Amino acid sequence: MRKKFFIYGLLLFLIVAAVYYKTERGFLLVVIIPILLIIGIYNAIQTKHAILRNFPVLGYFRYLFEMIAPEIQQYFIERATDGKPFSRNQRSMVYQRAKNIDSSTPFGTQQNLNIDSYEGIKHSIFPAPVNEELPRVLVGGKDCKQPYSASLFNVSAMSFGSLSENAVRAINIGAKKGNFYQNTGEGGLTEFHLGGGGDITWQIGTGYFGCRDGQGNFSPENFAEKANLPNVKMIEIKLSQGAKPGHGGVLPAAKNTEQIAKIRGVVPHTMILSPPGHNAFSDSKGLIHFIKQLRDLSNGKPIGFKLCIGNTAEFEAICQEMITEDIYPDFITVDGAEGGTGAAPLEFADGVGMPFEPALIFVNQTLIRLGIRHKMRIIGSGKIISGYSILHAVALGADMCNSARGFMFSLGCIQALRCHNNECPTGVATQNKMLMKGLVVTDKSERVYHFHKNTLHSANELLAAAGRKSFADVDINIFMRGDEFANLSDMYFPDNLKNVTQFS
Ligand SMILES: Cc1cc2nc3c(=O)[nH]c(=O)nc-3n(C[C@H](O)[C@H](O)[C@H](O)COP(=O)(O)O)c2cc1C
Repeated sequence: MRKKFFIYGLLLFLIVAAVYYKTERGFLLVVIIPILLIIGIYNAIQTKHAILRNFPVLGYFRYLFEMIAPEIQQYFIERATDGKPFSRNQRSMVYQRAKNIDSSTPFGTQQNLNIDSYEGIKHSIFPAPVNEELPRVLVGGKDCKQPYSASLFNVSAMSFGSLSENAVRAINIGAKKGNFYQNTGEGGLTEFHLGGGGDITWQIGTGYFGCRDGQGNFSPENFAEKANLPNVKMIEIKLSQGAKPGHGGVLPAAKNTEQIAKIRGVVPHTMILSPPGHNAFSDSKGLIHFIKQLRDLSNGKPIGFKLCIGNTAEFEAICQEMITEDIYPDFITVDGAEGGTGAAPLEFADGVGMPFEPALIFVNQTLIRLGIRHKMRIIGSGKIISGYSILHAVALGADMCNSARGFMFSLGCIQALRCHNNECPTGVATQNKMLMKGLVVTDKSERVYHFHKNTLHSANELLAAAGRKSFADVDINIFMRGDEFANLSDMYFPDNLKNVTQFS
């Protein structure tokens, strides 16, 4: 191919040069072809890229198409129901709710409902009135001195660094207007989290950003200073997150700007890998005492921890330790393995940790079995973006829900899958100032506010359709599954299997 490039390239140039010499037409080509020839000669002799060495000019098309493959997939190939991780229908629903415009769907469902895995709400013939008030949940156990009345739906942990400054600010202003909280993520509490006056859950990760000493260890003094700020309503110790459990936080070098490095106390323009585990404690007892230490240092604010379930025996051991020490967290956040991230190794994203549903059922049932469920709240996260998914999480045992990517969509995220390389085209997950300018804080904070409000309103409507008046009355019995009526007889009498024996 290289030989052909030299022969045809030279021939083409000679022909165009001859035409130009005779007719004085084709000036541009006389300029362009030598440029292509020079690029081609360079590529033919370089040794790094095999494709360009073999196809010195045409090889660029491969890189071009690879670059725009996600866009081609999304604009031309993707069907309404099959985008990943979120379908076009799901994304559109969030956009519409965020814009506060009609989010109804035309013509009927596009899902196949006659399958075993179908799941639906058993609506009541006598629906309850729709509650116009948005649900709230009080967080704070027996040792908590500053209980917090939280919204049932809040913004999950996403750091400044992973998100842009404008995204963090817009979320915070939206949270203030809608009276819900923004979780800082492990990147630390910054001026952008405090500027809008919204409620904050401050997350403490293994890097202790914002509360570390010179050696990178947890600093009680630095922690106490920020934990006692009035905006900080709760504190969350991050043990793990679903997208990369057992792996520390990742801040790619491209996103580690001078500004972020200063906030985190690290070297700019290098990849920052937080350790997989904490060094302030190393076992269940240590964790329980760390909870007490943070509670004391924050003058009794609600303290909890976030984890993705892996080894279930370890979680049970932590619960036993709570009972032995008589120290309980005020909340536990259960994150599913399907959860999102700014950046994670593929192996961890695809193959580590328990998905949300079984994890939530396990945590809820374990706490009930040990008789300590009433001592703390469970917060659930993992692809919760609709009223339906909120009700479903509550039915499986959650008291409250968090969403990360739902709120990213409300900010304008188009699922371009570029959070990790600083090229997010919507300015949501980038530190590129030019791209960030596209995200107008005043406009997007309204969208954050409306998405939260309309999603919770939808959850209220579903609650009423199921004939229940309060989320405290919700349990798994309001849901049905396709495999409940898999037998012919069951298909006709799904709720009354005992009385249909004459058909079997
Ligand atoms: C851009 C981005 C950044 C995140 N940063 C953090 C973080 O700093 N700490 C954390 O515990 N989880 C982090 N997460 C995980 C979310 O908080 C949440 O647990 C997970 O995405 C599941 O929720 P989702 O399906 O609603 O996105 C991040 C997620 C995303 C998408």
